[in-house]
Amino acid sequence: MRSPIQTSGKSKTNFTTAQIRSLLESSGRKEIEALRREAHWATLLHCGNRVYFRGIIEFSNICTCDCYYCGIRRSNKDVVRYQLAKAQILRQAKWCAERGFGSVVLQSGERRDARFVDFVTDVVRTVKKETRCSLLPDGLGITLCVGEQSREVYARFFEAGAHRYLLRIETASPRLFRRWHPPGQTYENRRRCLSHLRSIGYQVGTGVMIGAPWQTTADLAEDVAFFKEMDVDMIGMGPYIPHRAAPLARIDVDLPAMRLQRALSTIAVARLVLRDVNIAATTALQALSPLGRERGLDFGANVIMPQVTSPDCRKQYTLYDAKPCDNETDPGFQNALERRIRNLGREVGRNRWGDSPHAWIRQ
Ligand code: 5AD
Repeated sequence: MRSPIQTSGKSKTNFTTAQIRSLLESSGRKEIEALRREAHWATLLHCGNRVYFRGIIEFSNICTCDCYYCGIRRSNKDVVRYQLAKAQILRQAKWCAERGFGSVVLQSGERRDARFVDFVTDVVRTVKKETRCSLLPDGLGITLCVGEQSREVYARFFEAGAHRYLLRIETASPRLFRRWHPPGQTYENRRRCLSHLRSIGYQVGTGVMIGAPWQTTADLAEDVAFFKEMDVDMIGMGPYIPHRAAPLARIDVDLPAMRLQRALSTIAVARLVLRDVNIAATTALQALSPLGRERGLDFGANVIMPQVTSPDCRKQYTLYDAKPCDNETDPGFQNALERRIRNLGREVGRNRWGDSPHAWIRQ
C-alpha cells in the first residue's frame, strides 16, 4: 500500500493544519495501520529504537487548582490528601537509578506557597546529589511536573538540577480552555509559563487531553500544530477519562475504545509532524486498555513512565476514574513490560537520561 505521507527525504517536512486534520481523520483498519506503520518508521528514523523509562513519582496530591475534569481538584473533598517525605521520594528515585531508568518524573498537584517551593528545590537537589554513581555521573535526569509557577521559581528549580519540565496546555483552543477551567486559571498564563520554561533553558514538554468534552478533530489538529509552533521537546498526552467528582463528567463523550484510538492516532500524527521529539505513552492509555501504553509505543511514542509511587498513595492520586494503581516496581512486572517492548522490535534504553534528540539539535 502507498504510504499516506512521506516522512523522510526532502519532500514533506511541514504540514498545514488542514493536512494534520486529514491525517487525524484516518479511519478504517487499513488507513490506521498505514498511519501506525509510518509513525513507527519515523520514530526509528528520528529517535532510534530505544524506549526510555522514567519512573514517575507522584509525590503529593494536594492541589490548589479546580480544573473541571480532574479528580484531585481542590473542591473534591473525598480525596485523602498526602505528601511524601523527602526520604520516601529519595528511596523511590534510588530504586529507579539502580534499575537503570536514567530519569525520574517528579509530579504533584499545583501549589505556589514558599514551603512547597523550598521543598521541591531541596528534593531536586538531593535526588541529583544522591543518585550520582559511575553509570550516572550526573545523577538521575529530573523532569518536573508541578504546574504553573513564577519565572523565578522555575529558575530556582532549574538551578537545583531539574532540566526538563512538563506543563500541559490541555488544549490549544482558548475557548475550550475556558470551558474546562475555572475563571482564575487562564490559557494566557499557561502559555506564558511555557515561554518562561523555554527561556530558562529547560527541555519543555506539553500535551493535551484527547477526546474531552466539546473537542473536535479540528481542535486536535490545532493542538498538534501548536506543539510544532511552540517547538516543544517532549509531548505527554492521553485520552480524557471522566472522573465522577469532576463537573465535566456530566458531559457525554465518545466511547472509551474510540477515545483510545483517537489518542493513538494523535500520537502517530504528532510523531509524523514533530519527528524528533520525545513522546510518552501515558498512564491514561493504560487506564483504557491494559496494554494501552505498549500500543502507544507502537504508534510512535518512545518514552514510558512506570509508576513507582507506593500503591496506597497511588490510590489517592486519582486524576480520573479507574486509574491503574499496580505496583510497577514488582520485578515480575518489570520483566514482562521489557519483554513486551522487545516484542515490538524495540530496546530498553538504560542508564541514560534519554533526552529528546530535538533538544540536542536546537542547542
Ligand atoms: N482524564 C485524563 N487526563 C487527565 N488529567 C487530569 N484529569 C484528567 C482526566 N480526567 C491530566 C491533565 C493534567 C495531567 C497531570 O493529568 O492533562 O495535565
